[in-house]
Amino acid sequence: MVCEFRVDVPAWQGSGQQAAIGGVKNIIAVASNKGGVGKSTLATNLAVALSQSGAAVGLVDADATGPNLPTMFGLPNGFQAQSERGLHPVERYGVKVISLGFLLPPGAPVVWRGPMIGSAIRQLLHDVDWGEIDYLLIDLPPGTSDASMSMAQEAPIAGAVVVSTPQQVALEDASKAVTMFEKLDVPVFGLVENMSYFITPDTGQRVEIFGHGGARDAADDLEIDFLGEVPLATEVRAGGDEGQPIVAFDETNPAAQAFVAIAERVAVKAAASALLQAPTIPVL
Ligand SMILES: Nc1ncnc2c1ncn2[C@@H]1O[C@H](COP(=O)(O)OP(=O)(O)O)[C@@H](O)[C@H]1O
Ligand SMILES: [Mg+2]
Repeated sequence: MVCEFRVDVPAWQGSGQQAAIGGVKNIIAVASNKGGVGKSTLATNLAVALSQSGAAVGLVDADATGPNLPTMFGLPNGFQAQSERGLHPVERYGVKVISLGFLLPPGAPVVWRGPMIGSAIRQLLHDVDWGEIDYLLIDLPPGTSDASMSMAQEAPIAGAVVVSTPQQVALEDASKAVTMFEKLDVPVFGLVENMSYFITPDTGQRVEIFGHGGARDAADDLEIDFLGEVPLATEVRAGGDEGQPIVAFDETNPAAQAFVAIAERVAVKAAASALLQAPTIPVL
């Protein structure tokens, strides 16, 4: 028996400075200043976990120059290049996902200047018929780049989830991302430590390849919430490469359970911000 249910998610109103996206209740950015720390992996698995909780979820690949979400969702690069409808979101694992990679042939490099990235992001957010969405996740590229700035200008972001691996250099970059969001007046939901530790399959020994706990300490220092830690796991990497997000395929996997727990915390943070936000007073 297929059981359909929907949760009742409150909506973030924003400050009124950015145009709301019709039908979208909460926009959540997943970011870090560093590449390769797991932003796209986290965004993918959070999106699937939120959808499994009964929410309506969308996911925007804002990494215009290196879109990875087609691969992570098992969608072929360039498959919408000839589509009469043009670029449009596709539902996969319960998530409506959109990526410029849907238009680009595999391996095609994208060399874009800042203003072009800004206009691409604007179109991905505002020119798409999203329908009713509780959480629209944005997978940002690394860096305090044009994409992040455009995002913050183009849409009322309810909160940012910043991801880091435990080593010092990654944490330094993560704290730059936190500072960037604070400057852009975007609330930061908290910090996630990815690749936190590795359990060897044969002996069960725990190995802390990049160190451990750095993100929790950094969150304390930055006075933001620590949202959880995700182990380094072969199944997460394989799931990403094969377009089979671990959360959708193995709920017993410790990394999948970590993603689900983080998704629950993100949902609570979003609900708390939406319910506690000050009502906007119209200025005449
Ligand atoms: N917890 C994890 N365990 C194993 N591999 C991971 C984990 N998180 C990410 N990866 C892998 O690391 C690589 C980089 O991750 P990705 O999400 O693309 O990073 P980013 O978006 O920050 O550049 C990918 O191959 C991904 O599958
Ligand atoms: Mg990425």
